Amino acid sequence: MNRFENKIAVVTGAASGIGAATAARFRSEGGTVVGIDRDPVSDVDLAIQLDLLNLEAISPSVAQVIDACGRIDILCNIAGLGHFAKDEDETPEAWNRIIGVNLTGTFFMSQACLPHLLESQGNIVNTASTAGTNAQPWSSAYSASKGGVIALTQTMAITNGRSGIRVNCIAPGGVETPIANQFTPPENVDLAIMSRILPFDRPADPSELASAFAFLASDDASYCNGIVLRVDGGMQA
Ligand SMILES: NC(=O)c1ccc[n+]([C@@H]2O[C@H](COP(=O)([O-])OP(=O)(O)OC[C@H]3O[C@@H](n4cnc5c(N)ncnc54)[C@H](O)[C@@H]3O)[C@@H](O)[C@H]2O)c1
Repeated sequence: MNRFENKIAVVTGAASGIGAATAARFRSEGGTVVGIDRDPVSDVDLAIQLDLLNLEAISPSVAQVIDACGRIDILCNIAGLGHFAKDEDETPEAWNRIIGVNLTGTFFMSQACLPHLLESQGNIVNTASTAGTNAQPWSSAYSASKGGVIALTQTMAITNGRSGIRVNCIAPGGVETPIANQFTPPENVDLAIMSRILPFDRPADPSELASAFAFLASDDASYCNGIVLRVDGGMQA
């Protein structure tokens, strides 16, 4: 398949895990990929180092994409982070960081790309989580950010749908990436509730998420708008 020939795809979180796999998938199907991350990105056509908490740097980064590539057809907001914390231990700093990258960063990247997507009649694929579609213990900030991504996706899909832009999101379950290291269960908690978030059978390989991002970003998904695609191996079935 060469679904992304002549397409420019911007992928945040491209330095690692699902973002890196999605960037590779777009390129393997003929796409030109701009990888954005706070960490250095390799194996893309253009790498831009950007901390999504620095909102003022978002528009200049998107301008850099336009200078170099001339257009944007696809935006995949994949950068994200989280942690487990008991509600009584959550700090304003960690709360703001998690909401800031996962939700606020997703919105302002989308806002900055919107005029270019309108021009190209492109689309956005956001990253939610099964933590946003169902309860995940010790994850108030993370779950709120991902529930917010779902609401944002649906709102932007409806607001912009008549202008020819599609906005969808993917809700991964457990995927084998370094993010797992951020989720250490707090001490002295009832570990039995961990069963709510265990993979049904096995965790996903990042490439199994990349194929879902590629589907939603492609014309194969021309009638998908505002959807939440759970890719969780049946965990929440
Ligand atoms: N792995 C899973 O089990 C899983 C499950 C559900 C949802 N997700 C979501 O998938 C997305 C990708 O996660 P992953 O599993 O590939 O994890 P990962 O840690 O491998 O990749 C996350 C990437 O986001 C980047 N990032 C973090 N903070 C940033 C910031 N301030 N500015 C710019 N970039 C930043 C990191 O540098 C990293 O490259 C995240 O949104 C995550 O919440 C992952």
